[in-house]
Amino acid sequence: MLQLAAANGIDTLDTAIAYGESETCLGEVGVQDFKVVTKLPPVPVDCTDISDWVQEQVLASLDRLGAGAVYGLLLHRSDQLLGGIGKKLYRALQALKDKGVVQKVGISIYSPHELETIPKHVRLDLVQAPFNLIDRRLYTTGWLSRLKNDGVEVHSRSVFLQGLLLMSKVAMPPKFAPWSELWERWFKWLSVYDVSPVQACLAFPLGFPEIDRVVVGADNINQLEQIIGFAGSRPAVELPDLHCDAEDLVNPSRWSRL
Ligand SMILES: NC(=O)c1ccc[n+]([C@@H]2O[C@H](COP(=O)([O-])OP(=O)(O)OC[C@H]3O[C@@H](n4cnc5c(N)ncnc54)[C@H](OP(=O)(O)O)[C@@H]3O)[C@@H](O)[C@H]2O)c1
Repeated sequence: MLQLAAANGIDTLDTAIAYGESETCLGEVGVQDFKVVTKLPPVPVDCTDISDWVQEQVLASLDRLGAGAVYGLLLHRSDQLLGGIGKKLYRALQALKDKGVVQKVGISIYSPHELETIPKHVRLDLVQAPFNLIDRRLYTTGWLSRLKNDGVEVHSRSVFLQGLLLMSKVAMPPKFAPWSELWERWFKWLSVYDVSPVQACLAFPLGFPEIDRVVVGADNINQLEQIIGFAGSRPAVELPDLHCDAEDLVNPSRWSRL
């Protein structure tokens, strides 16, 4: 999959310390052809030296990845930038940048509202945020243009909403029935215009020049081939308006409670 990605112009990999064996797997295959963005888990409550802890975490990450440096280091939880811990954490991240171990520091968010709470002294280089046909908050809140105006690199994720937008009507779990009107419109649009949902989903974020990278998840080479095949072309018709701000729908961490 990495060979296929590199051969097709995919130049960035998104991972996280918390993603099980993923950094080790990437290191075994080799990430020298890619920019790697990884994410730091929350600082443990009993941590006595934040700077040492951050350094340890990042060096272990580089070791697993088999890399001397990473392109991006994101906080997996943006609220870690708040308060006294936040100041120390931010200083530790800046120190890694000064040493050249990390090129860009930033945050991975679940909702653009998190950006409103970022302390004034914090200068983010990179923000990763969900953005897809349903969850358009990054654009509708004005944050996408604000980030761009501030020179922040923007990576969007959840283009398929963890695969939900690619499910067939019959496979859709009943817990998503509260949004049945939205699904009706989606399935009708797909069938009337005979468009692949993969192509429609990719076309949405790829249509925003402010977005620097669209992060895609693929479980196997067939899915990656499909993504690569569709990434270069847009549907000939206008994309459907599936915009919905319901947190229960757009935030997958809430789905287990539905
Ligand atoms: N033709 C097809 O059927 C087809 C084609 C392409 C993709 N797909 C499906 O779509 C899914 C991807 O959808 P998407 O890109 O829209 O995903 P997404 O919504 O961005 O979901 C990925 C999320 O999963 C979490 N995660 C947990 N463990 C992870 C790990 N080891 N690596 C990466 N993320 C991990 C992350 O949560 P945190 O944010 O908390 O870190 C991440 O945000 C694929 O898994 C596949 O099932 C299907």
